[in-house]
Amino acid sequence: MLRINTLGGYFHEYQKSVSNPEDFWSDIAQTFYWRKKWDTTLEWNFEEPKVEWFKGGKLNITENIFERRMFTHADRPAIIWESNSPDEPSITLTYKQLHEKVCQFANVLLKNGVQKGDRVAIYLPMLPEATIAMLACARVGAVHSVVFAGFSANSLSDRIIDAECKLVLTSDGSYRGGKNIGIKTIVDEALERCPTVEKVIVLKRTGEAINMTPGRDVWWHDETEGVSTENKAQEMDSEDMLFILYTSGSTGKPKGVVHTTGGYMVYTQYTFENVFQIDAGDIYWCSADIGWITGHSYIVYGPLLSGSTVVMFEGIPTYPHVGRFWEIIEKHKVTHFYTAPTAIRSLQASGLDPVTPFNLSSLKVLGTVGEPINVEAWQWYHTHIGKGKCPIVDTWWQTETGGMMISPIAGITPTKPAYATLPLPGIQPILVDSEGKELKGNGVEGNLCIKFPWPSMLRTTYGDHERCRQTYFSTYKGLYFTGDGVKRDEDGYYRILGRVDDVINVSGHRLGTAEVENAINEHPLVNESAVVGYPHDIKGQGIYAYVVLEKDGQSHDKDAMKSSIISTVNKIIGPIAKPDKILIVSGLPKTRSGKIMRRILRKIAEGDGSNLGDITTLLNPEVVEEIKVGAGL
Ligand code: WTA
Repeated sequence: MLRINTLGGYFHEYQKSVSNPEDFWSDIAQTFYWRKKWDTTLEWNFEEPKVEWFKGGKLNITENIFERRMFTHADRPAIIWESNSPDEPSITLTYKQLHEKVCQFANVLLKNGVQKGDRVAIYLPMLPEATIAMLACARVGAVHSVVFAGFSANSLSDRIIDAECKLVLTSDGSYRGGKNIGIKTIVDEALERCPTVEKVIVLKRTGEAINMTPGRDVWWHDETEGVSTENKAQEMDSEDMLFILYTSGSTGKPKGVVHTTGGYMVYTQYTFENVFQIDAGDIYWCSADIGWITGHSYIVYGPLLSGSTVVMFEGIPTYPHVGRFWEIIEKHKVTHFYTAPTAIRSLQASGLDPVTPFNLSSLKVLGTVGEPINVEAWQWYHTHIGKGKCPIVDTWWQTETGGMMISPIAGITPTKPAYATLPLPGIQPILVDSEGKELKGNGVEGNLCIKFPWPSMLRTTYGDHERCRQTYFSTYKGLYFTGDGVKRDEDGYYRILGRVDDVINVSGHRLGTAEVENAINEHPLVNESAVVGYPHDIKGQGIYAYVVLEKDGQSHDKDAMKSSIISTVNKIIGPIAKPDKILIVSGLPKTRSGKIMRRILRKIAEGDGSNLGDITTLLNPEVVEEIKVGAGL
């Protein structure tokens, strides 16, 4: 793999990637194992949109993880798994062992009728089997759709229905801190609405009593019993679908972002090795959940393609104590640690006492992802976790981009706190104003777009290509629009300012305001609602919900109403979408055409009741005063 070693080397590679992208990516792609080389390196237009990389190339991504390197990597640890409980021993799987388990489970999938192109839903806790499940799907050419195991039954069934999944992989329960979550019960509830699901394979984790539906549900351990650990990988085209991952946008239900095989493979390994500057023997830990894109690209595919050792953690940062992350770093001598700003801020809030007992000297590189990191959190991470010697890679990217896009290269790109710094090779950012006019030069602020395809970009949104076009390629003609606002400073460095659309980022989790509103509106006593984000010290953004009750609801106790609204949201989406603040109001400020004035609601949620602009043209200006008073302004 082409490795950048110096800043000059970075500029050189970047230049090459822009002046001749096809040759640049071909050279990198050639280091992979293709059963047949591709016919065309790139075909694209951003109008339809159509993007095809390495078309006609035949491969299987798991052969690139395993067979490609078995002679050198067989005994290297691939996964070091750390339990929720520090008392349970950790588990190490070498590449050889992981290969056998993936092949065996691939055979189990085949035995259960899974064929190339079938969709398989994965609703599993952070266990090695989650990785095994994903790779086994890829091995047989099935498309995995991983659903974060914190989502509700309703969210799970929406995703299963949309992708028409044939099979579900889950476990009896899941340990999360002091809690034991009955996730099979959630699956049972979800499947009441999912006629396409024929089989459910259940992994035993907590051993609690669960319902097993005869003919549909089978145990993982029974299914693998006596099954061969050899499997010949399915041949895939570079542009065959690898996975679907649902993510929230500004409108409607979450959409299934589709990633394909060849380009995603090339880009995730390339960025993983370069951004983190991984060497043989390094121990890399990404604390994300595999239910998010970070888990897909940088727990599973990128690191395993590069033959690295990945720590996988089942639990939460604060269990059984707030120093757990640091304890794990010491225990496994982690060299590279990748986490979210929210985690850093919440651990920072606990002070240094939980940090100092642990020896963090193994650390070489720190990373962050998922949301803007504030300068204070960056400094704390740098000083107290990295002891001033570990470069921080603040990596900006998205579910849709498949891999990191704007990020320092560890130890090579000079960093600035809160800046994602410079685009990685192959990435051509462009800033535009609201009319789509390019903002050239440095010292500008605008909407972040990308003007040229990169190998791991989304290809479509599952089952609805028009939605993909509309969402990402129609706002600014000929450009991929990210939804983020960005500043390019005098040095040409990029700082991500946050979303400019109706997406909020709560603890690094993406949620559409409309999605949360729809959930709140499901409550029988709610008439309508408006949801906005507001600055939150720990979570980055919090969820502020303004709720108008039905007549029948108005006599109810307000606190009881609020908790009942919260349970509705938990039930419809999951606890991550739970509003932090609910204000019950008699009406929402609307224009004469009936549009909710979110700008006003956002300002009030931010705690600023002044300068709300001209409200006299509103249909109901009187509610603004009421809302201000209700919000304590
Ligand atoms: C935000 C997560 C600032 C951004 C990989 C983006 C960031 C959204 C950063 C995608 C960062 C991600 N700095 N903001 N380093 N990384 N974001 O799809 O708003 O869950 O559009 O992908 O997170 O979230 P997603």
